[in-house]
Amino acid sequence: MIEIDRVSKRYGDAAVVDDVSLTIPAGGVVAIVGPNGAGKSTLLSIVGRLIKADAGRVRIDDLDVATTPGRELARRLSVMRQENHVVARLTVRDLIAFGRFPHNRGRPNRDDADRVAEAIAFVGLTAEADRFLDQLSGGQRQRAFVAMTLAQDADYALFDEPLNNLDIHHAVALMRLFRRMGEQPGKTVVIVLHDLNVAATYADRVVVLKNGRVAGDGPPAEVIDQRLLSEVFRVDGDVLEIDGRRVITVAR
Ligand SMILES: Nc1ncnc2c1ncn2[C@@H]1O[C@H](COP(=O)(O)OP(=O)(O)OP(=O)(O)O)[C@@H](O)[C@H]1O
Ligand SMILES: [Mg+2]
Repeated sequence: MIEIDRVSKRYGDAAVVDDVSLTIPAGGVVAIVGPNGAGKSTLLSIVGRLIKADAGRVRIDDLDVATTPGRELARRLSVMRQENHVVARLTVRDLIAFGRFPHNRGRPNRDDADRVAEAIAFVGLTAEADRFLDQLSGGQRQRAFVAMTLAQDADYALFDEPLNNLDIHHAVALMRLFRRMGEQPGKTVVIVLHDLNVAATYADRVVVLKNGRVAGDGPPAEVIDQRLLSEVFRVDGDVLEIDGRRVITVAR
């Protein structure tokens, strides 16, 4: 279980994460949605200890994120950030192998190599595995960073906008993979998404953030509605239901 307990983060006068409490039980796929600047990445970065909260506490099962040694935390929780700096002279395989570091401390064995190859295959980069990162297209590079996080094989995998730059084929393949992961015992996937139709199709639960606060939380059929479109996202549109799934169309 991820327990976010009264977490806040301010930059100057702005409370970008404002007293957020959220419990994410083990298992399933959770989508986090919300407008630009709502605090999604900041919250994810706090959970992954990439940045420090001003107040509140995060626990991952029995571990307090603030005090758990990095290596132990990295086996339990992985975070793929929204922006990734590209180290040009690194190959796809080398990048993805970094994901195994918490397991092998830089001394990879056969199992690590297998898992790296598996992650490369999952994201369809086998043919590009020995290319440098600056020799990839934007979507291929995004898939390489996703694969690094997959290779880490943590119980809780957090992805900040993993579908950025992906074509529909790779987006669907990745969302299906996230679903399969979320259905494995003890595995939980948390994904920041902008496409509400993708969230409605693949997530078990949708958490809405607005102005640093939780503005909605529940199954897609409860959360994705007219009010979400108009009040949270300020768009004019319709919410339809097709095959029991919410589908959004916007006015032009
Ligand atoms: N280091 C920083 N210093 C000052 N303000 C920051 C900093 N990082 C983020 N912010 C501000 O905090 C707010 C939340 O940012 P955050 O990146 O968490 O939003 P987000 O919900 O992920 O948005 P997006 O959908 O655009 O990725 C924004 O208003 C942003 O400008
Ligand atoms: Mg963000």
